[in-house]
Amino acid sequence: MSGNHQRVPEPRPGLRGVEPYQAPQLDVPVRLNTNECPYPLPPAFVEDLAAYLRDVKLHRYPDREARELRRRLAERLGVDPEGLWVAGGSNEILQQVLLAHGGPGRRALLFEPTYAMYPRIAWVTHTEVGRIDVVPPFVLGPDHVRGAVAAGAEITFVCSPNNPTGNAQPLEVIEELAGVLPGLVLVDEAYVEFGGKSAAGLVESCPNLVVVRTFSKAFALAGARLGYCVAAPQVVEDLRRVRLPYHVSALTQAAGLAALEHADDAMAILDAVRRERDRILEALGRLEGVEVFPSDANFVPGPVRRRAGLPAGDGGHAGGGRRVPGGDG
Ligand SMILES: Cc1ncc(COP(=O)(O)O)c(C=O)c1O
Repeated sequence: MSGNHQRVPEPRPGLRGVEPYQAPQLDVPVRLNTNECPYPLPPAFVEDLAAYLRDVKLHRYPDREARELRRRLAERLGVDPEGLWVAGGSNEILQQVLLAHGGPGRRALLFEPTYAMYPRIAWVTHTEVGRIDVVPPFVLGPDHVRGAVAAGAEITFVCSPNNPTGNAQPLEVIEELAGVLPGLVLVDEAYVEFGGKSAAGLVESCPNLVVVRTFSKAFALAGARLGYCVAAPQVVEDLRRVRLPYHVSALTQAAGLAALEHADDAMAILDAVRRERDRILEALGRLEGVEVFPSDANFVPGPVRRRAGLPAGDGGHAGGGRRVPGGDG
């Protein structure tokens, strides 16, 4: 055998220039950078989860369609289970949507600044990225709708509440985007339980709308990796074509079922998180020379030091978008 073959072959062009996703996972008392729930799960939930897990038949593959979980979740949301899909975290839903609707020669449109995973998953799925810069206070309006029409992307991402700026987007703008754009409008509602209005109710009248949500934040279940979307049944059908078989493990499905039984406990934690968020926002707002932006999410966008001589709203921002620390998720 020639020594020529005894080396690692080159991966696809550009891959070695992509840094692996690495939001730091520090062992510190207060961990802010991934927007997790700071409170552990209530003991009654842990007990029920243990009971569910005892019954899981791990020698069998899980239900590929996660029917029971989808049925119960759909019931909770008041939607048709055929129009609800689950995956390993909302990141996996985003990837499935890009696999189904992106790809070579197709484009995803982002309103920047926004969640850093969108361009990364777009790259992985060979999807081009178009960007529209949004300036403080980061609220989408008619100009952005016109920009999106001109961009002509196959998928337009709207993150609401947005990571990292924290603000929710007006439902009317989301409805308008869905009405005027021929492509998909993906609304990422990872933080919607903390503030803003959900677009899930619009899916029936806007079949190009995909509303993506997660158990990682409001359900305090980031470790279980469970996300879902509400979409037209045809969209769900197309996601089934690109998913890996058995992509949601039996353990994850069991955790989701237990979480739904304890949804009220989770919703009680929401209030505590919102109160703490507002307390921190208020305290930061009292600091001299610091500009604070409101948040509809479970995190506080990084405060910005106001530069002398600049009016509020403009202080310390580099270009159109302020640099916001944290919020890697
Ligand atoms: C806006 C946004 N979407 C999606 C996710 C991914 O969440 P998960 O994959 O845990 O559901 C995050 C995580 O922080 C996020 O901030």
